Amino acid sequence: MKVAMIQDKIIAFDELEPVYLDRGFYFGDGVYEVMRSYDGKIFALEEHLQRFANSLAGIKIAGVDIDRIHARIQKAFEAAGISNARIYFHITRGSSAREHDWDTNLKPNFFLTVTNVTDDTEAKSKGIAVSTHPDWRWKRCDIKSLNLLPNVLARHDAVQKGCEEAIFVDEAGLVTEGASSAFFAINGHTVQTAPLTANILPSITRKFAIKAAQNIELKVIEKSLTPQQARDSDELLIAVTTKDIVPVVKFDGKVIGDGKPGKYTKLLIEEFRSFTV
Ligand code: PDD
Repeated sequence: MKVAMIQDKIIAFDELEPVYLDRGFYFGDGVYEVMRSYDGKIFALEEHLQRFANSLAGIKIAGVDIDRIHARIQKAFEAAGISNARIYFHITRGSSAREHDWDTNLKPNFFLTVTNVTDDTEAKSKGIAVSTHPDWRWKRCDIKSLNLLPNVLARHDAVQKGCEEAIFVDEAGLVTEGASSAFFAINGHTVQTAPLTANILPSITRKFAIKAAQNIELKVIEKSLTPQQARDSDELLIAVTTKDIVPVVKFDGKVIGDGKPGKYTKLLIEEFRSFTV
């Protein structure tokens, strides 16, 4: 008899709930999105759905109706009634006995949660510390895949060092992005961030942070920087859906500027806020 074991309990393999055979579970074979709402309105919904469609195509999950996903998001968001919500969802390739290649008839599994966004006002007003970590990820970080082990390990390392975020540095010695955020440096009137290549996620918040920078007449350069250039910058910040823009005041132990959020970062936060109302 084929069996499975869950903690101490033996179960007939054929009686396993499909969730235990989810390819997301075995292989991280799926893609996800995180969106948020501000005062009852989901921010950048179309952008997130487009990126989700790109991620699905990137890992060859076909036949997902994005309009249906949209409808499910709206339904769950309304059911939750949380005005400042964090909406997480993923699609995995489906459930089947563990085998690397997949059966093209598999039915994708959809999962979604709506929870509260915990706005960290202290991080925003005081800034956070970050530490660098080798970028151990694969070469398609533009796909928002469920495989987040390098991100998880890097974040854990940062937290152990008393920091809030890890900043990835690739084999060429260049900063790519945060473990779960885009990364920006400001020098003079210039804002710099890594270009959109397959090595980073096309962050939606990054896009709006660039728009905010242009609106306040800062020059934007999409060019990777070294950790040394980051350390020597006037201002640093990270950008991510759940927190929008957060000032970085310490980089690998080095205090940035006067150790307080920089003036342009504060202006960017203000400008970004205007997009969300
Ligand atoms: N992370 N880079 C990485 C590696 C990320 O995981 C994220 C987001 C970002 C920022 O992307 P966006 O601006 O679209 O949120 C950049 C999500 C929030 C997460 O994994 O929880």
